[in-house]
Amino acid sequence: MNDSILTFGASLSRNSINAQLARYAANQLVDVNVNFIDLNYFDMSIYSIYRENDSGIHPHAVEFKKLIRESNAIIISFAEHNGSYTAAFKNLMDWISRIEGKLWESKPMLLLSTSPGGRGGATHYNQR
Ligand SMILES: Cc1cc2nc3c(=O)[nH]c(=O)nc-3n(C[C@H](O)[C@H](O)[C@H](O)COP(=O)(O)O)c2cc1C
Repeated sequence: MNDSILTFGASLSRNSINAQLARYAANQLVDVNVNFIDLNYFDMSIYSIYRENDSGIHPHAVEFKKLIRESNAIIISFAEHNGSYTAAFKNLMDWISRIEGKLWESKPMLLLSTSPGGRGGATHYNQR
């Protein structure tokens, strides 16, 4: 069975250049299934312990964690907002970090970034 590559741009922009880059990179691989997702689907209310205590883990976070577990590798291209990744991506991480297991399940990851801005997507992301 072909490996499945979870692929997304860490951005909520319509026509995100990072989503395009992530998809392009994944499409260079041969004999894989590219599971390209739109982060807008996983747009959730900002994480807070009160929300978690009141309503539990957001169902989209549970769904996203399942996608991580089912993937063989992950390709992310990050939009850079004020020298960091986007608030949407941080929020997604906060939610999925509340689910048991390592955040990214130690899956092999290809991390990219593209930006027309002054910092040029120069920041790094390093979390297992
Ligand atoms: C709130 C905000 C902050 C930004 N901060 C940066 C930045 O720190 N460095 C940078 O290179 N570009 C920055 N940009 C420009 C983005 O790189 C540009 O909007 C890019 O298209 C974002 O990628 P996306 O199309 O995948 O969302 C910023 C844009 C916004 C809207």
